[in-house]
Amino acid sequence: MPQHKPDHIRSEAGCTHSESDRISTLTALSGTNLMIYHQDCLTGMQHFLKPGQIDVVVTSPPYNLGVKYGQYDDTQPRSDYLDWTEQWAVQVKQVLSDKGSFFLNIGSKPSDPWGPFEVLTVLRKYFTLQNVIHWIKSIYIAERSYNRRIEVNVGHYKPINSERYLNDLHEYIFHFSKDGDVRLDRLAIGVPYKDKSNVTRWQKASKAVRCRGNAWYIPYQTIKYRKKDRPHPATFPPQLAEMCIRLHGLKRVTTVLDPFLGLGNTALACLDLGVDFIGFEIDQSYLQQALLVLKARIA
Ligand SMILES: C[S@@+](CC[C@H](N)C(=O)[O-])C[C@H]1O[C@@H](n2cnc3c(N)ncnc32)[C@H](O)[C@@H]1O
Repeated sequence: MPQHKPDHIRSEAGCTHSESDRISTLTALSGTNLMIYHQDCLTGMQHFLKPGQIDVVVTSPPYNLGVKYGQYDDTQPRSDYLDWTEQWAVQVKQVLSDKGSFFLNIGSKPSDPWGPFEVLTVLRKYFTLQNVIHWIKSIYIAERSYNRRIEVNVGHYKPINSERYLNDLHEYIFHFSKDGDVRLDRLAIGVPYKDKSNVTRWQKASKAVRCRGNAWYIPYQTIKYRKKDRPHPATFPPQLAEMCIRLHGLKRVTTVLDPFLGLGNTALACLDLGVDFIGFEIDQSYLQQALLVLKARIA
């Protein structure tokens, strides 16, 4: 497989660009390297990555729901979309290490709920589905507990005006691995015990936290101006990527890949965690925005 040897020209803020401007490399003071390619991930993964090089993939491809992206056309016939999904999934399998984790964030819409499950049937040919995680964007909880009324009403969502459908408050994060036997660091994203006596009761509960389980409440950061503050129609919060990487186990992560970079939220998480990152994005304007944010974080 041909390996890429970028011909870099150094520029400001620890950032280098190749002559063709196809690849930008950012290096943080910590030594963390972020390689961002303006490139179709199908060819990118094939040409620039080595087999087994990646420890964790966290990504969110287009969902085939007709979202208006800058470059990508999200209105493909479903069969073409699934063929394409199979093509990039094969590449992901090739570059993922044998004990690597592949976290796939995907959502649907109430009038077209099958997409994630159709994608699953394609991916099961290549991966074991080790965990199904629900990314909860908003939740209302009313509970009477210890004679107190507890009410929680948090998060953001796009309201749907419908007599048939419920507001859609969640997306999936499918955790795949090659053989379903990847050891996880569950307590790295653990939550406090409700009943503290459990800490002593359960031998393994030495850290005073328990496994979070598979329902993750992760809100979007509140923004004032959509176009300026989040100029992309379908992002996930960096915290989502951070939790996936921590769950896999930071000690076991050297390099993370996001084949569908968008605004670079997986890259941001990697920068904060001090792990190397490789990303691909076909849309120059999203990529530029990602670089802006990452450079500002490094500076
Ligand atoms: C759902 S978004 C990812 C958003 C990202 N997780 C974030 O938080 O910003 C999917 C992205 O994939 C990009 N894309 C679509 N086809 C691509 C391809 N073949 N190679 C690389 N990027 C692609 C789109 O331009 C879009 O920005």
